[in-house]
Amino acid sequence: MNTVDELLANNRTWAREMLGQDPEFFSRLAAQQQPQFLWIGCSDSRVPANQITGLLPGNVFVHRNVANLVPGEDLNSHSVIQYAVEALKVRHIIVCGHYGCGGVLAALRDERVGLVDYWLTGVRALRDREQAALDALPDEVTQHARLCELNVVEQVLNLSRTLVVQRAWDAGQPLQVHGLIYDIADGLLQDLGIRASSEGEASEKCAAARGRLTRSG
Ligand code: CO
Repeated sequence: MNTVDELLANNRTWAREMLGQDPEFFSRLAAQQQPQFLWIGCSDSRVPANQITGLLPGNVFVHRNVANLVPGEDLNSHSVIQYAVEALKVRHIIVCGHYGCGGVLAALRDERVGLVDYWLTGVRALRDREQAALDALPDEVTQHARLCELNVVEQVLNLSRTLVVQRAWDAGQPLQVHGLIYDIADGLLQDLGIRASSEGEASEKCAAARGRLTRSG
C-alpha cells in the first residue's frame, strides 16, 4: 500500500525519466494535446487505459465510469464525447469493458448497493432483455462474462446514436467506433468485432456481435 508521499516521490522519478528519454516531452504536451483516441472504460483500478494500450500521455482522451456506460441522459460522458469529437477531432472512440466488472455483476444479481443502482438501470434492462440467452449458460461466472460482453455491444450502440457522433458522421468527419473487452486475468484486450464508421454500419456490426454472443451459448 502506497502513501501519498510515496506517490509524490514516484512522480518526481517518473518526470525525471521522461525528460531523460525526451527533453521536450512536457513542453510539447503543455502546448497542446492531439490524441487520436477517446477511451470510454470502467473506473475499475485494474483497467488503466494508457498502461494496457502502451500509450503515452497526450495519446488518449479518457472517460471512465462504473461499468463503462454511455447512457442517453448522462451529461458527463456526452460532454466528454463532444469535446473529443468536435474539439480534439479524435479518429477512434473505444468502448472497453472488462471481465469481472463489479457493476455488471450487481446488475446481473439485481443487488441493491446504493446510488450506483440508479446508474446501472440500463445494464439491468439489458440483462432482462437477454435473460433467455443468459439462462442458457451453465453458471453465474459464464453469465457474468457474457453480460460484460453484451454491455460493450450495447454501449457502442448507444455511442453511435449520440447526437455528437451522428453529427460528425453526417458531416463526413472520419470517426470509427470500436468495442473491446479486457481480461483482468491475463492482461489481454479482445476485439468484439465491432468497428464502424457510420450509424448503419454500427447497427449492423452490433447486431452481428450480439448474435454471436447470444447464439454461442
Ligand atoms: Co468494471
